[in-house]
Amino acid sequence: MISEFYKEMTGKTSVIRDFFAYSMERAKVVGAENICNFSLGNPSVPCPDSFTKEMIRLLSEKDPMAIHGYSPSLGLDSTRTKIAESLNRRFGMDYTAKHIFPTTGAAGAIAHAVRCIAGDGDEIITFAPYFPEYIPYITGCGAKLRIVPADIDSFQINFEEFEKMMNEKVAAVIINSPNNPSGIVYTTETIDKLASILNEKQKEYGHEIFLISDEPYREIIFAGADAPFISKHYDNSICCYSFSKSLSIPGERLGYVAVNPKAKDAEMIVPMCGQVSRFTGHNCPPSIIQLAAESVLDETSDLSIYETNKNLLYKALTEIGYECVEPMGTFYMFPKSLIPDANEFCWRAAKELDLILVPGDSFACPGHFRIAYCVQTETVEKAIPRFKKLYDMYK
Ligand SMILES: Cc1ncc(COP(=O)(O)O)c(C=O)c1O
Repeated sequence: MISEFYKEMTGKTSVIRDFFAYSMERAKVVGAENICNFSLGNPSVPCPDSFTKEMIRLLSEKDPMAIHGYSPSLGLDSTRTKIAESLNRRFGMDYTAKHIFPTTGAAGAIAHAVRCIAGDGDEIITFAPYFPEYIPYITGCGAKLRIVPADIDSFQINFEEFEKMMNEKVAAVIINSPNNPSGIVYTTETIDKLASILNEKQKEYGHEIFLISDEPYREIIFAGADAPFISKHYDNSICCYSFSKSLSIPGERLGYVAVNPKAKDAEMIVPMCGQVSRFTGHNCPPSIIQLAAESVLDETSDLSIYETNKNLLYKALTEIGYECVEPMGTFYMFPKSLIPDANEFCWRAAKELDLILVPGDSFACPGHFRIAYCVQTETVEKAIPRFKKLYDMYK
């Protein structure tokens, strides 16, 4: 008999995918060039040439048995060592290979991290607006996800509500900065305040509370942002990184867990990740992808288009009259919807203007909509008059 649990899940489609699917159908009618599609967070710039060249070099010069062989279950030693060295060089940390576990993107990193530090009956707290895929990662480890309502004036942490929700069952807190969908970056002040509350609560409850830092957008930071390296500010922290956005290689599925060397049982967590993999049938990312990435760890794609698009769009939207907290990173913007029902608002934009947006309800933040401006700048330019028309429909 098939599993009722997963069967039931198949009936619940993602709203983001619904909008994307609509845009694909509509493109068949009016042509893709006439759709302003801001629904998906797919990078819009190619990976660095150096990554491509390294892949070619590996394929043409290296022993096929090595590059296509099994990776050790905890990842290639050379890749783990180089990731640790890169993080130490860039952020003044003390990681060694023992703290690094290559994963299938940030998704794999978070799914492993939560299983190492939480289980049945535990709670994990996150902050709206948040990445909805946390639900399956956390449900999968038996814990319960609790969501702190957003501070919609700044999208920094709503500490008042957070403190009310803290209790002895909380095993971990997940943050995502730079944030999908708001584009906000938590300031040093926010991170230090969070760290101080967690330190206090650890003492009060007599157990660790891990901070899982979901960082796929760490490298997409705009001028003037105060963007602390989060693990530097809290000892019991696990960084979950992805190369999907920084190197524009989301299809290669590469990321890592980096366990803070100062965390409790720091050197146990990576071997534990190896055991978690056995339960999920996960094995390390392909050897060749680990090898290619280890040669470009301090590089990124040319990410400047995202800041160009942000500047253009933020200026235009706020001049039109939209209310929006200015993003300091990522390739997302999260303005207020012009009516309380953001779902209705986004469908109207899609159906009447071929402007594809995503309602904030999916991120536990109703009344807002997400614009994923990882598109060509011409698409942003084409969309601005449509945003004006949309505004005029309501105001
Ligand atoms: C906030 C956030 N976390 C995690 C992920 C998963 O990243 P990856 O696709 O690299 O696994 C994404 C992907 O868009 C994301 O936006």
